Amino acid sequence: MRTQVGIVGAGPAGLLLSHLLHREGIESVVLEMRSRAYIEKRVRAGVLEHGTVETLRAAGVGERLSREGLIHQGIELRFGGRRHRIAFEELVPGRAITVYGQQEVVKDLVAARLASGGDIRFEVDDVALTAIDSERPSVKFRAAGERESIECDFIAGCDGFHGVSRDAIPAGARTHFEREYPFAWLGILARVAPSADELIYAYGDRGFALHSMRSPEVSRFYLQVGADAQLESWPDDRIWAELRARLETVPGFSLAAGPILEKNITAMRSFVVEPMQFGRLYLAGDAAHIVPPTGAKGLNLAVADVRVLTRALADWYARGDASGLAQYSATCLRRVWRAQHFSYWMTTLLHPFDSDDAYARRLQLSQLEYVVSSRAAATSLAENYVGWEP
Ligand code: FAD
Ligand code: DHB
Repeated sequence: MRTQVGIVGAGPAGLLLSHLLHREGIESVVLEMRSRAYIEKRVRAGVLEHGTVETLRAAGVGERLSREGLIHQGIELRFGGRRHRIAFEELVPGRAITVYGQQEVVKDLVAARLASGGDIRFEVDDVALTAIDSERPSVKFRAAGERESIECDFIAGCDGFHGVSRDAIPAGARTHFEREYPFAWLGILARVAPSADELIYAYGDRGFALHSMRSPEVSRFYLQVGADAQLESWPDDRIWAELRARLETVPGFSLAAGPILEKNITAMRSFVVEPMQFGRLYLAGDAAHIVPPTGAKGLNLAVADVRVLTRALADWYARGDASGLAQYSATCLRRVWRAQHFSYWMTTLLHPFDSDDAYARRLQLSQLEYVVSSRAAATSLAENYVGWEP
């Protein structure tokens, strides 16, 4: 079997790429190890940058997003017993974020692909990339017990951090940059109305907490927990007690609790592979880079990579112009490294580290005070949060 672009992974990166390529008249096959039901239920990110929303709308998959997405003009930083608003409408006029769950984006993209006859193979295994440095790379895999192979012009590795694509690049031809953090996030989704209109990033001695939401009826919360924390030691009542202790720190705020629909623990890691391409293989999204979630950048970076890759492939197919492909990694990495720094900065700003001494805590508080009292510092946070265009 043949296709033009073989895409490994049906996360936001792989699905959007397949959809955008289709709109450029370029065919693709998407290979996904999980089932459709699984990827549509996987709860992850929820903050879409302005540019991400524009991309989804322009691609014709923004209809439900426009109806159900919650537009936010600011976020709150809560520390020292006070609340401080970072007001996007004042600091970065015309730019805002939209809160809309990643799994909703995934559902919209799967529906759009299948409606236009797109080829997504779910539940495949043993995916392997071969001959990526030739003009006829191929993807081998097993589906329903049968070995299959698809010959391609190009392969897009969109299979996330634990995928196989990145490792197909010879070890000597790639460099990894990484940082681990000594804590994790415990995330929950709860059937309860949000207790605030905007997201709350709360810093305190007990650890970081984040109040987010998905809809007027569903809230999303995250707690900083130990790097080795296990869900078994976090029964629902302990989670609510800890959320209350970390969020009910300002006068007049009380947190509403409700049934917990879903719980998970996410490791915190920063990672970049350079370059993001080798031969005819192009990596996009988490396959190439990971950020700790504090800056809400992971999904947005995946969409930005896919925009660049689509343009580059479209130029190649339309006019034989390979310049976009040659520059793919360098173009993406400018934005990736800005988001790396922002995510690292937000993470180290808002999480107390066990290794901190009293001096380190004072520095953190001083930086927080500066961010909420200097217009220049608040603008820097705001323009990175809504999406910095290099
Ligand atoms: P993914 O969404 O990971 O998609 C990769 C796809 O490839 C998956 O469907 C996977 O099943 C498939 N795949 C993997 N290996 C193979 C293989 N060998 N063969 C075939 N298919 C394969 N970001 C935030 O901003 N906030 C958050 O709260 C947040 N929480 C997260 C929680 C978790 C557990 C993880 C892993 C990430 C989280 N992120 C969060 C980051 C954000 O969700 C990602 O940046 C985003 O999913 C990237 O999209 P992607 O398409 O590149 O990768
Ligand atoms: C959400 C996730 C984030 O990582 C973040 O910084 C803000 C909100 C969320 O899932 O809603």
